[in-house]
Amino acid sequence: MVDMLCEVLGHKPLTEVYWELDIAAPDIAEQARPGQFVHVRVPGLEAVSLRRPFSIFGAEGGTLKILYKNVGRGTAEMTRLSAGDRLQVIGPLGNGFPLCAEGVPVLVAGGYGVAPLFFLAGRLERKGVVLIGGRTAADILARDDFERIGWRVQVATQDGSLGTEGLVTDLLDKELAGVCAEGDAAEFFACGPEGMLRAVGERAVAAGLRGWLSLDKRMVCGVGACLACVQKLRRADGSTWIGRVCHDGPVFEAREIVW
Ligand SMILES: Cc1cc2nc3c(=O)[nH]c(=O)nc-3n(C[C@H](O)[C@H](O)[C@H](O)COP(=O)(O)OP(=O)(O)OC[C@H]3O[C@@H](n4cnc5c(N)ncnc54)[C@H](O)[C@@H]3O)c2cc1C
Ligand code: FES
Repeated sequence: MVDMLCEVLGHKPLTEVYWELDIAAPDIAEQARPGQFVHVRVPGLEAVSLRRPFSIFGAEGGTLKILYKNVGRGTAEMTRLSAGDRLQVIGPLGNGFPLCAEGVPVLVAGGYGVAPLFFLAGRLERKGVVLIGGRTAADILARDDFERIGWRVQVATQDGSLGTEGLVTDLLDKELAGVCAEGDAAEFFACGPEGMLRAVGERAVAAGLRGWLSLDKRMVCGVGACLACVQKLRRADGSTWIGRVCHDGPVFEAREIVW
């Protein structure tokens, strides 16, 4: 884990509310694994505000990429960053996804959940399919990026403005039926809203497959010290314990999580 002052290399809007931020962070980028996150001190809010956690979208050649949605005070302030600005970043934090899948890897993303999954797609040994869901077409991100690195992409929007009309879990059900019909195994990797994660996890458990879910909890310290991000978890013997998403996660296998 490194705490460093990083220079902004590039910053651009992807849609009205989603942005991509590139920063020079060679020490963090070199260590980063898919599913890990960074904790960013937002310039302008240092005196009054906490850091904000963001998944690592990419880490190559000393550059760290973040894909974020402008949802509130901190992220609104971040949209003002431009090349040459500096920001304090701690990372990489958390455990990350496993890098080898049993059978076909099926990535399931909701909204900015594409960020850790795109990083993962570039590092997994086997290519598979990515299912991206959102409320509307404007929430479907990184589709071309996945296709460029050889992944098959399926899209679902709730308003039908792009891809299939419905939920991303409808796509998952179809995909699962196809994989099973071919006699292959599958492993799920998911990041997105809690309801989506829960639905993906239930499908993994019901089908006897492994499902890796990246939880999105509000965080304060980001390093396991404050207990702001606790989650009830289950051990293999059925006993439960209270974990810290920032320290013990953010990625957990579906059977571990007590919703
Ligand atoms: C491990 C992890 C990885 C994340 N990765 C990304 C990412 O790659 N891209 C991205 O855009 N965001 C990501 N987030 C969420 C991001 O941290 C929050 O959206 C951000 O902190 C909001 O800051 P704000 O000051 O703009 O919003 P605030 O003003 O603090 O809050 C605005 C709204 O956002 C909600 N919110 C705040 N934090 C979270 C959160 N953690 N989860 C869900 N809702 C939240 C609040 O409840 C409120 O409704 C991640 C969160 C975690 C825990
Ligand atoms: S945010 Fe402090 S323990 Fe996780």
